[in-house]
Amino acid sequence: MSDKTLTLNQFRTLRKDAWWKEPLLVVVVLGGFAIYATWAAFQNAHYYVAPYLSPFYSPCLAENCDHLTLPLVGSWWNLSPAFLILWVPGGFRATCYYYRKAYYRSFFLSPPACAVRDAAKNYSGESRFPFLLQNLHRYFFYLSIVILVFLWWDAILAFRFPEGFGMGVGTIVLIVNAFLLTLFSLSCNSCRHISGGYLNSFHSAPLRYKFWSFVSRLNLRHMEYAWVSLIWVALTDLYVRLLSMGVIHDLRFF
Ligand code: FES
Repeated sequence: MSDKTLTLNQFRTLRKDAWWKEPLLVVVVLGGFAIYATWAAFQNAHYYVAPYLSPFYSPCLAENCDHLTLPLVGSWWNLSPAFLILWVPGGFRATCYYYRKAYYRSFFLSPPACAVRDAAKNYSGESRFPFLLQNLHRYFFYLSIVILVFLWWDAILAFRFPEGFGMGVGTIVLIVNAFLLTLFSLSCNSCRHISGGYLNSFHSAPLRYKFWSFVSRLNLRHMEYAWVSLIWVALTDLYVRLLSMGVIHDLRFF
């Protein structure tokens, strides 16, 4: 390869395979999700249709909510209640170790793939602002567990129709959503750390060892859980939204 070719080849790689496919897919899916979630949060409408509450608005904390979960914020809040909540799962995913790898590669081309040179000339890692904030991941994990409890509560409430106990497709949609987000949260590296990863020895903590082993097995599939739960949570909001708008109808089993 001549020097001229090297200067023209922006990424300077000898790889001949389609290494760009994965970062491109991440841009499309993650970028698409970010756009949809932001749009849905700004809507401030069609996030509740009895008995289903969109996960983008749960828990609903402001008095202006269509379906109030906890009245923590008074009537002075006149923006979308989603803004009170979405920064938690958003921050949790943004600081996730797996997503960091995915979006550093795809959005920042840093580097775009293995054996493909960085687009940026300098590399400062995560030692500067705003990347220093990635260290907050474990705190976002703690907050996300609180949100997760509310999402399971919503899934239970999804059996409580205005006319009484029942079950519809939406009930299953909300249960699957809570389940997938549980898998995503339990497989988190921070969860693995606090469940026993920080111990020097499991000798005197056999139960901790069992739990840590379980979390470690989930951790192997963290990437899969990250994507499936991301897509499902958006589909859950879409399902509730379309129901609320009257575009589709919920199929009731009983
Ligand atoms: S959520 Fe991915 S590492 Fe914690």
